[in-house]
Order: sequence, then C-alpha cells, then structure tokens
Amino acid sequence: MSNDDVLFAIESMRSAARVASGGELPAAAKNVGKAGKLPVSKPAKRPATKANLALIPQVATEEAFCNAKLRKAAYYADDNVLIFNMDVREAMAHLAAAGVIVNCMVTSPPFYGQRDYGAEGQIGLEEHPQQFIEQLVACFEAAKPVLADNGSLWVNLGDTYWSGKGEHKSGESKQSARRFGLRPQDRTGDGLLCKPKQLLLIPHRFAIAMQDMDWIVRNDNVWVKPNPIPDQVRDRCSMSHEYMFHLVKSRWYFFNKDAVGRKSESGSILPPSDTWEVPPARRSHKHKARFSEELVRIPILSTTPQNGVVLDPFGGSGTSLVFARKHGFRAIGIDIKKDFCKSMVEHLGELG
Ligand SMILES: C[S@@+](CC[C@H](N)C(=O)[O-])C[C@H]1O[C@@H](n2cnc3c(N)ncnc32)[C@H](O)[C@@H]1O
Repeated sequence: MSNDDVLFAIESMRSAARVASGGELPAAAKNVGKAGKLPVSKPAKRPATKANLALIPQVATEEAFCNAKLRKAAYYADDNVLIFNMDVREAMAHLAAAGVIVNCMVTSPPFYGQRDYGAEGQIGLEEHPQQFIEQLVACFEAAKPVLADNGSLWVNLGDTYWSGKGEHKSGESKQSARRFGLRPQDRTGDGLLCKPKQLLLIPHRFAIAMQDMDWIVRNDNVWVKPNPIPDQVRDRCSMSHEYMFHLVKSRWYFFNKDAVGRKSESGSILPPSDTWEVPPARRSHKHKARFSEELVRIPILSTTPQNGVVLDPFGGSGTSLVFARKHGFRAIGIDIKKDFCKSMVEHLGELG
C-alpha cells in the first residue's frame, strides 16, 4: 500500500466522519494522520469503505505510552520502549488500563514441554497439552483490548511429540539443553491424545482454539529451517518447520503489502509466500530459544504503520523489540523472567 492510498482513505474517513457528525469531526478522526505525520490535504479518491478505513493507522497516544502509572509498573521505560517483568496477563491489564494500543503483536511463546525457563508462573510445562493451549489462549485474550482493532497478532509455534518413556537418561550433549528432568510428554499420558509417538498437533489445536474465541486466522505461515540437525529417529521424517500464525480481530485490518511483497514480471507487487525459509538464530548463552530477526520481518513491516507500536508478550532476549526499534517503531516487551528483561534492555542499548 502506498502512502497515497492511505491519504485517500484518511481524507475519505474524515469526510465520512464529518457527514456522520453534522460537520464536526469525532475526536478519533481528528487525530488520524497526525500521529503518522501523513499530510492530509489531498482530495479523496477512494470511498470510505471498511477496507479503506482499516488502512488508517490507529496509533498509541503519547499520553498513554508515557503514562506515569504504567512507567511505575515497568521494569524499564523510555519514550519509545516499555519492558515489563511479569506474567503476560498482568502486563496486558496495565497496558489496557493506561489506554495503550499496539499495532503488531509478534511473539514466540514457550513451546509445549520444550524448555524449563526456571521462572515461577512460566507457561509450557502443563500436565496436558490442552491445559497449555488454554493458558496460551488466555494470554492472547488478555491482549485483545491492547491490540488495535485493525492490528495483527503473529504467533510462532512448533510442535511436540508425546514420548511416554519416562525421564531421559542419555547424556547426549545436543539434546541436553532441552532435557530438564521429567518433561510433561515423558509421562505415561492419557492414552487418548497423549500416547507414545503421537505428534500432538499443538500449533493447529491452538489456532482452532483461537478461532473459537472469535479470532480470524489469516495464514498458517510455515517457517522452513534449512539444514536442521536431524532428529535421532528411524521411523519418521525429521522435523524442519514451525508455524507463524497470522491472526486478526476484524476482517478489516492494516496490511502494507508493498513493504514485504515480491515484484512480479509485470512490475506489480505480489504478496509474500506463506513459506519462509529462514535459518534459525544462533543460540545465545543467555537465551536458548531466541528467534531470528528475519522471522519477524514480514510480521512487523507488513502490519505496523508509521509511528506504530510493536509488542512481544514473550519477549525473551528482545529480538522483536530490536527489529522494531531499528525500523523506527515503538516497542513493548514482556517476560516473566527478570534475566530476560535485563537482556532485552542490553540488546536495545547496543543499538546506540
Ligand atoms: C521462546 S521464548 C521467547 C524467545 C524470544 N522470541 C527471543 O527471540 O529471544 C519464550 C519466553 O516466554 C517467557 N515466558 C514464559 N511464561 C511466561 C508468562 N506467563 N508470561 C510472560 N513471559 C513468559 C520465557 O521466560 C521465555 O523467555
């Protein structure tokens, strides 16, 4: 989408709002275009359809982002960054109370049974996969009021096999980072979903649970990992992909195809494909499940308008925040573990 397209939509929306209110612009419409520093003098060329109106940035006000109570609750705060060291749901309640809205939420929550972050209240080690999905959905339901009506949520999730073999005994070094005593999937299981060798299909169970809460699933983008370390198995294929779900609250949402699209032979811009080949990030000594900046490129650039806000509710080492800041967006991170909040601040500090 070009700036011109937005301009037409802005002007259309302003005219429509004027008509609807007998000449006086409603407060929200008065601010449209100001926050995004977009000129608004061009004549309207596009009708004020819902699709065009959804292209109008809804950005957090200065007042909300810099709210004193919110800053007090934060682990770190400056004019462009907020970091919260607490459970996702608690942080969302603070943000909602301050009236903060964000445009793009992009995150990699803990995967089921994959890691023990050693933080009280962490999610990912629930006894049954269904309980894990319920926890995740509850976190994103708490995020709903904070996500702009035309905003997007992107969730990276990988799957888990049920093992049922009991605690792992081998000292094999490649696996040891993921071994932390008895994982939920090592238990006997319910014999229904949870039985040995079962791929739990957690990513799609999560997506369906989100649909049940009225979210719209736009894509189940597949992250293809080139040259993965092969699984030590002899009776199935080795896993080399994860998902990046794109979810929205409303069928009319902001999407800047031009920022991420591919040029066709005729010169028109095609949308990016839904398979993304991205090498995994190198593990940092501090965070073993860091994701690569390339993985957040399409989410952040396509669904964050100028002067918009990016939020990563399971921030970890702060990859999404760093990418957002590099592109001039405001950024909010949340993590239940203090060490990770510290490393978010450090990584942002390296930007200078
Ligand atoms: C997969 S990691 C995120 C990695 C991150 N994308 C990066 O690039 O470093 C998941 C993070 O979720 C955090 N976490 C787990 N449960 C949480 C909760 N209830 N609220 C907030 N953060 C939580 C963990 O501490 C961990 O850092």
